[in-house]
Amino acid sequence: MCGIVGYIGSGNVYDVLIKGLHRLEYRGYDSAGIALVDDKGKLSVFKAKGKVANLESYCEDKNTDSAVVGIAHTRWATHGEPSDHNAHPHYSEDGNLALVHNGTIENYQILKDALIQQGCTFQSETDTEVLVQLIEYIKVHNNCSLLDAVREALKEVVGAYAIAVVEKDKPDTIIAARKSSPLVIGIGDGEFLLASDATPIVEYTKDVVYLKDEEIAILQRGKPLQLVTLENEKAKIDVKTLQLSISQLEKGGYPHFMLKEIFEQPKTLLDCIRGRVVDGGKQVMLNGVLDNKEQFLKARRFVIVACGTSWHAALIGKYLLQDMCHIPVAVEYASEFRYSKPVIYDTDIVIAISQSGETADTLAAIKIAKGMGAFVYGVSNVVGSSIPRETDSGTYIHVGPEIGVASTKAFTGQVMVLTMLALSIAQLRGTMTPHQIEEIGKEILTIPDKVEGILKSLNEKVKQMSLIYTYARNFLYLGRGYSYPVALEGALKLKEISYVHAEGYPAAEMKHGPIALIDEEMPSVIIAPKDHLYDKIVNNVQQVKARGGSIIAVVTEGDDLISEIADHVLEVPKVSECLSPIITSIPLQLISYYIAINKGKNVDMPRNLAKSVTVE
Ligand code: G6P
Repeated sequence: MCGIVGYIGSGNVYDVLIKGLHRLEYRGYDSAGIALVDDKGKLSVFKAKGKVANLESYCEDKNTDSAVVGIAHTRWATHGEPSDHNAHPHYSEDGNLALVHNGTIENYQILKDALIQQGCTFQSETDTEVLVQLIEYIKVHNNCSLLDAVREALKEVVGAYAIAVVEKDKPDTIIAARKSSPLVIGIGDGEFLLASDATPIVEYTKDVVYLKDEEIAILQRGKPLQLVTLENEKAKIDVKTLQLSISQLEKGGYPHFMLKEIFEQPKTLLDCIRGRVVDGGKQVMLNGVLDNKEQFLKARRFVIVACGTSWHAALIGKYLLQDMCHIPVAVEYASEFRYSKPVIYDTDIVIAISQSGETADTLAAIKIAKGMGAFVYGVSNVVGSSIPRETDSGTYIHVGPEIGVASTKAFTGQVMVLTMLALSIAQLRGTMTPHQIEEIGKEILTIPDKVEGILKSLNEKVKQMSLIYTYARNFLYLGRGYSYPVALEGALKLKEISYVHAEGYPAAEMKHGPIALIDEEMPSVIIAPKDHLYDKIVNNVQQVKARGGSIIAVVTEGDDLISEIADHVLEVPKVSECLSPIITSIPLQLISYYIAINKGKNVDMPRNLAKSVTVE
């Protein structure tokens, strides 16, 4: 987490950096700071606890216009509480250098103790300050350039970093580097930008370079970009063209990114299936499968690794792959997988799912799986991010930038890709007939319109209904089969943005514990489409009712049985069981959004969370 941005060029440095920080605020927002250097060699550092807006207020009466180069940071605290003094940029003791950092320096205590022994004093509790002091120490003691000092310091570091450093006396240079945390360099017309992702860069240039691990970038006014390794060897510069537009990064008339993203789903699902479900639904094929036929033919098991919402998509993927391809599937939290003793064979395919493509635990799980000989397939959203680059093959979900911290359109995009993945593999392995594939393929093409219909018919209804439930302190979300992961995801959405306790459970497990919680103050959200488990879940609905619990039920249009029992019914169109998670998750997204709004919460930037989790 944390977002970093840097700029060197003839534009207003402060304005470019602040705008960039706003774009990166989804990565963390407990404090923000900026370091500006003017052409007289004056280095000014301004920091403020809280969101970027606080930093802006703080800087209102400061001289920010004379800067010619600068770096900035928005923080998600790891070492040290959110506060002004722990905010980045950090500077070296003699005030010569300022540095911003995204990542974690794991051996910071050892390095800090050694520096203290050399007489260094520290202003903050952060691991980052250790790095800037170390760079300065090396620079002074070796009497070397900033670049050489950065190279040497980074060799000492264990952990993850994306950093940018400026030097007081060198207002024409930024040195930046990365390992395991993302960093993109934008090459503009007489200007350079750097940022944790491309969103702060896109309005200045579409030419970008994604830094690789242990590469250092030297951004110098009036000179071409240079990249070197930690060993000072020249590295290749591979310029890519951004496929991002500024309108994708704005709210487009919606009050929040989350609502915009919920309402974008008819379009994002269409983008996701474009070119993959073709010939009127007769053909469903992902290139990643087509290009790796042998791997998919010899596979004997899938292991899916992911975190958070992506892990819920993975659970749906398990049902899809088992049903359609008849192959065993294991789903693991990436954070557990990486520290367990995984048993992985070269006939396993490991599927890594990640919206951001940067989640540290998922990246680590990929490296372990690759090391054990598995073929690794990525499902990501952010083009050029680390996970697509680390995996052997994969598929982008193509839903556009997701800014709201609570994932919505990325979740449905992930589930859609997993559905197409299962169908592609089923076709290749002959576990489904062409007719069966065509039936689902055709239906996939109707999903965007169905989602549009749900948004039209249920938005207002959910908005009104949410008023009744705004002050409930606990919720239970129940589902069976494909609807079980949907229940988990619905509960997570509510927790994330409204801070209300919500538990997702397989409905049949309710009687083994959670049923004890049910009373008139604990509503249950029950996902009960007409599928092969419908009769079973009707029993669970009755069990909740018998204990006085109120029920919000997501049901298939025309359902009159559950409608009789439930307090509120949200009807969705009938679809095949395998496609139901995309359909049933839409009302749950709306429920969490409106409850959070009624409670006055910041849905786009909920407390303590960040969108891209680049630390363990
Ligand atoms: C964070 C986000 C979640 C996301 C999870 C995994 O916790 O707030 O929305 O599901 O990370 O992120 P990924 O980018 O790997 O899907």
